Amino acid sequence: MKKRLVVLLAMVLILFCGLALAQEFGLKKKRPKPHEFGNVVIDNYSSKANKAPVVFKHWLHRSKYSCRLCHVDIGFAMTVGATNITDQDNQRGLFCGACHNGKIAFGQKNHPGDGNSGLNNCARCHSYGEKVDFKYDFYEFSKNMPRERFGNGIDWQKAEETNKIKVVDYLEGVSIEGLKMADPAELDLKPQEKTMPEIIFSHVKHSKWSGCELCHPEIFGVKKGGQPYSMEEIFAGKYCGVCHGPVAFPNINCQRCHTKLVY
Ligand code: HEC
Ligand code: HEC
Ligand code: HEC
Ligand code: HEC
Ligand code: HEC
Ligand code: HEC
Repeated sequence: MKKRLVVLLAMVLILFCGLALAQEFGLKKKRPKPHEFGNVVIDNYSSKANKAPVVFKHWLHRSKYSCRLCHVDIGFAMTVGATNITDQDNQRGLFCGACHNGKIAFGQKNHPGDGNSGLNNCARCHSYGEKVDFKYDFYEFSKNMPRERFGNGIDWQKAEETNKIKVVDYLEGVSIEGLKMADPAELDLKPQEKTMPEIIFSHVKHSKWSGCELCHPEIFGVKKGGQPYSMEEIFAGKYCGVCHGPVAFPNINCQRCHTKLVY
């Protein structure tokens, strides 16, 4: 009973801090709508070439592929614009062109056989600020998905666990079949602040989407407890905040990380 009271008090404290932190870190700015959350606008070259900038939608692609496949095997950077994709790269089968080749997904030209005839394939990618006919509608897609309050409004973890989506982690000709590293023992991160409820972090669940390479060594190093980090840094887009904020459920969802892990 005493333990529950401590947890309750801590949750109240979190809510309290939440308001303060939210203000401090400018989180009161307009929240993206569910269909906009995780969308990335790429425009190193398009505007200059008189094309509309490219909109890449995480919600659609992450419902089919792991983060690891794109961000490790295909080599997309996790910073907007940093990959420096060109039209020529795509035509050579790199980056978007690894899949958008008319076989796995629609290519540049409108192939009559790919089931998309009628849609303008250039425009489906170069869509920023344009009125474009798409094949996929976010709200149609999310209708049958488990709910979540923030981000895309979809509980992606549950969607994966209940087989509402199947996350492919291998691309023929691009991925290398190697020894899969065993998941380390379930890691329950202990907060350094005495007043905080414990942090939930599951290696097993994270490796499903992110393998090992997406977090080690770049984001978290390789040493246990080697890097103490604070909520301020997470809000600033470091550590957990590399993903939680832009693509995975956002940091305003305090309770999803700040409770004890129950198994
Ligand atoms: C699968 C998505 C996709 C499709 C389909 C696509 N593009 Fe692109 N294209 C991109 C991306 C991503 C970039 C890089 C955007 C940037 O940084 O501005 C790009 C860049 C470009 C550029 C900028 C100049 C350069 O050399 O990179 C031009 C021009 C261009 N595309 C033309 C086209 C045309 C024409 C079509 C249709 C025949 C087309 N694209 C179809 C994704 C696509
Ligand atoms: C189909 C490929 C693909 C998949 C799957 C994918 N991403 Fe991305 N991601 C991209 C591309 C493309 C960019 C933009 C890169 C650029 O502009 O150079 C990006 C950008 C990002 C960014 C930077 C966005 C920002 O606004 O700062 C983050 C963070 C990210 N991805 C995380 C993830 C996570 C987490 C997952 C899995 C849940 C994931 N990605 C799945 C292709 C993918
Ligand atoms: C790992 C494979 C993969 C990569 C890499 C990838 N896509 Fe896709 N993408 C798909 C698949 C599969 C679909 C669904 C295609 C279909 O059903 O016709 C899709 C659909 C789309 C659509 C939906 C269009 C519509 O009408 O609703 C857009 C836009 C798109 N991709 C843009 C991009 C851009 C831009 C990039 C690169 C920055 C990219 N994709 C990289 C696999 C990929
Ligand atoms: C989403 C990010 C993420 C992914 C994916 C991930 N890790 Fe970790 N890993 C962490 C964090 C966070 C810690 C704790 C770091 C700290 O204490 O500073 C950690 C710690 C570790 C440690 C040291 C602690 C221990 O349990 O001995 C090992 C070893 C490790 N990870 C291996 C792996 C392996 C192997 C994989 C792939 C199966 C993997 N990690 C995937 C984030 C990740
Ligand atoms: C993605 C997971 C995640 C989310 C979401 C999250 N936190 Fe944290 N939080 C952490 C981690 C990890 C730490 C560092 C734990 C430690 O002390 O080692 C932390 C630490 C803290 C601390 C301790 C002091 C500090 O700055 O390190 C406070 C207070 C805190 N978080 C408040 C919040 C509040 C308020 C929210 C919601 C607005 C929130 N957190 C959302 C993961 C998260
Ligand atoms: C490489 C990207 C990445 C990093 C870094 C990362 N996460 Fe996650 N995390 C994800 C993705 C993707 C999911 C799936 C759910 C979603 O996308 O909203 C997830 C899910 C979770 C969940 C929900 C698991 C469940 O049981 O339902 C928790 C809790 C969580 N992360 C906490 C953390 C904490 C704490 C850290 C930092 C120590 C962290 N994450 C770092 C990508 C990441």
